[in-house]
Amino acid sequence: MSAHGPAQKMIARRSEGLRGEAHVPGDKSISHRALILGALSVGETVVTGLLEGQDVLDTAKAMRAFGAEVTRDGDGTWHVHGVGVGGFAEPGEVIDCGNSGTGVRLIMGAMATCPITATFTGDASLNKRPMARVTDPLALFGAQAVGRSGGRLPMTIVGAADPVPVRYTVPVPSAQVKSAVLLAGLNAPGQTVVIEREATRDHTERMLAGFGAEIVTEDSDEGRVITLTGRPELRPQTIVVPRDPSSAAFPVCAALIVPGSDVLVPNIGLNPTRAGLFYTLQEMGADLTFENLREEGGEPVADLRARHSPGMKGIAVPPERAASMIDEYPVLSVVAAFAEGATEMRGVKELRVKESDRIAAMADGLRAAGVEVEDGPDWWIVHGRGAAGVPGGATAATHLDHRIAMSFLVLGLASDAPMTVDDGGPIATSFPVFGTLMTDLGADIGPA
Ligand code: S3P
Repeated sequence: MSAHGPAQKMIARRSEGLRGEAHVPGDKSISHRALILGALSVGETVVTGLLEGQDVLDTAKAMRAFGAEVTRDGDGTWHVHGVGVGGFAEPGEVIDCGNSGTGVRLIMGAMATCPITATFTGDASLNKRPMARVTDPLALFGAQAVGRSGGRLPMTIVGAADPVPVRYTVPVPSAQVKSAVLLAGLNAPGQTVVIEREATRDHTERMLAGFGAEIVTEDSDEGRVITLTGRPELRPQTIVVPRDPSSAAFPVCAALIVPGSDVLVPNIGLNPTRAGLFYTLQEMGADLTFENLREEGGEPVADLRARHSPGMKGIAVPPERAASMIDEYPVLSVVAAFAEGATEMRGVKELRVKESDRIAAMADGLRAAGVEVEDGPDWWIVHGRGAAGVPGGATAATHLDHRIAMSFLVLGLASDAPMTVDDGGPIATSFPVFGTLMTDLGADIGPA
């Protein structure tokens, strides 16, 4: 059973060339932030292009529980009537964030400096994930957290009635932790400073500035120093959510490995803190181009064109690039399986604490599909089979992880024998139209 119903076994079979345009949904990271910052501003924020995946719908529900009015028009436009910084009401229900680490960690940050108490839970995957990385800095503001052993959900947070601003160096490369601290800093007086040694996605900083907060980012010897002035009045915004590069990764990678493919994936955000996969693929020799490069809403955007790319070569992925492609390693490892030679992925310890242990989940499934994989605590190497092809013909365990499910379905489009995943249900958390989008391109994917 998945948390959202019975397991949905799915199968992908070797396909003819994928062709056409793939319109992927809105960016998941930006969608969560649009709802949360909308809820913290006074007045009406209007959001178009919102990702209507379960993760984001759970955040919308949570914002209602904290007192914001969140509605959707028939045409898919969302309206958020916010309560203002510090205006969250105490929820009358347990906040269930489902599968979403981003949802729960950002919302914990946003409520931690309000004088209210809230209890959070999630599905079997989220309830295993570490929360101390967020509750440790929130304690510095004066918030208290009581959870299960190891800092796991379910967990109750008692918000600080009299918060103090903090200066905090994020110990792991995590945009969720950085964002939780910044959102808590909104309702603390004075300046909250967050320092990150490695740059992670900066959507929170960009959006806070867009809502009118005073926020400054400076590079220093310590890393990126982000200074937020507390207690701003956030002004409601009109937000057009760009399409998600992490979702674009699936049709792009499928096109690269399926012979005869030529796929256009329009309007993809290429924020440098997110685009690492595409540069890595190009270095491997992928026929992947950025067409119509332009700027929209302060973000670089392009149409991605991916064509079948025989003869790609494995590379050592630069560890300093990890944060900019952290969610894309599973599908990169699939492309690596079809490339010639080894692809080395190092400095990726964070993959062990995502929706699943993504190194273990991918290594197990790839081995079952006939691919040699080596792995250690914070690294893994995929030995590409090149012209020999990938045997496939296995069932991969997805551990309630949408990206593991989609990665193995992509693999099955080009492996000798079909690839099955034990549960495709979690795909709906981030990419609900994945199945139809891929079959419209010509992919043979369906229920098993
Ligand atoms: C996200 C940050 C990343 C990423 C996740 C989305 C965000 O997680 O893996 O899918 O929207 O801030 P970490 O902050 O744990 O690195």
